[in-house]
Amino acid sequence: MQDLSPKPGDLEPIETASIDELRSLQLERLGWSLRHAYENVPHYRRAFDELGVHPDDCKDLSDLARFPLTGKAELRENYPFGMFAVPREQVSRVHASSGTTGKPTVVGYTAEDIDTWAHLMARSIRASGGRPGDIVHVAYGYGLFTGGLGAHYGAEKLGCTVVPVSGGMTERQVKLIVDFEPDIIMVTPSYMLNIVDEMRRQGVDPHATSLKVGIFGAEPWTDEMRRETESQLDMHAVDIYGLSEVMGPGVANECVETKDGLTLWEDHFYPEILDPITGEVLPDGERGELVLTSLTKQAMPVVRYRTRDLTRLLPGTARTMRRMEKITGRTDDMIILRGVNLFPTQIEELILRTEQLSPHFQCVLTRAGRMDSMTVLVERRAEAPLDAATVVGADLRTLIKNEIGVSVEVDVVDPETVERSVGKMRRIVDNRKD
Ligand code: DLL
Repeated sequence: MQDLSPKPGDLEPIETASIDELRSLQLERLGWSLRHAYENVPHYRRAFDELGVHPDDCKDLSDLARFPLTGKAELRENYPFGMFAVPREQVSRVHASSGTTGKPTVVGYTAEDIDTWAHLMARSIRASGGRPGDIVHVAYGYGLFTGGLGAHYGAEKLGCTVVPVSGGMTERQVKLIVDFEPDIIMVTPSYMLNIVDEMRRQGVDPHATSLKVGIFGAEPWTDEMRRETESQLDMHAVDIYGLSEVMGPGVANECVETKDGLTLWEDHFYPEILDPITGEVLPDGERGELVLTSLTKQAMPVVRYRTRDLTRLLPGTARTMRRMEKITGRTDDMIILRGVNLFPTQIEELILRTEQLSPHFQCVLTRAGRMDSMTVLVERRAEAPLDAATVVGADLRTLIKNEIGVSVEVDVVDPETVERSVGKMRRIVDNRKD
């Protein structure tokens, strides 16, 4: 793999500013953002008034903890445009996240917001090892989902040549990679695996492609998955994080020279970690729910938005800004199996430690009487012998029992039988009836 560390002069001054400079910029921007939300969004005015707080009360960054939290429910109640802080005519684009139940959540951007987003995506691609002139293959979906267009504008802003493929038509993805020789691919990690399988089907050696970096996000993935992808493709695999409500992709991104968690672009977002049960703010280093406040967004500021994503904040390494650890999972994706809490990422980690198992898997939940059970449906690798399935399955079962402390069933199935996705992979199939 190529050394893609930044050279002197590659970074923006704020990326290496002192912590004091960063904190004072954040405080100034936070004051603006709270006032902007309070003065222009009826929901925030009501919520602040109910708690008896006013934007002027925010004299220190820690004062933010006194302000109300915001969740998906508040966004839904104000569907579609009620959370906008500028007249609708000034909103130059909307996106929406589908959501599994009921109304989607709608988000809006002014022209300047789009520009800020493009800027942060360009910064993210550069942190991943991208440079002006690179060819960027975008396989995130284009449309209401923020992945495709977010990546697209960022890559253009950085000065790259963008190939806007979107998700799906996997055969064509491979053809375009072979013919156009992109340097970078932006795609969900689970769809990348499908593209690699398709390469093999077409007789294309994944090692031999032009790709030098994969920028993977929109769903949780583990360091074990990083090792797997990097070894299959001989390229760097870096993590990108974001969510529509807060902007889209590019809220945080790993730096290719360290790959030790995602640098949060703190000049535009202020992070807090909350105990998801008590709502108490936790100190850096402790694991909990990530809560984000936008510092510069015009069309739709968010104050203390509960992401439901579980992580912890760590001091900066490659940059001054703090890092967030790779996300373990979402509070709503936590499986509680006979009193034991677990996430699909823990299963992914153990599957990838088991030779002969591929990373294509799903956790299927069923209920018989009052008893919940889980079956891990996982494909054996194409090169693994058919008769190994029973032994390998038993090995994984033991590993899960020893490491996570819960008994599950393991069903090792043939290659290409587990559901595939072209975007976010459905890791949990819940067949329990209430
Ligand atoms: O998934 C934005 C995005 C697009 C991020 C492309 C990265 C790349 P939503 O559809 O609103 O937006 O979903 C946001 O996806 O709250 C997390 O639960 C999950 N997620 C996003 N990135 C990561 C990541 C986009 N790197 C939700 N690791 C978030 C783990 C992620 N989970």
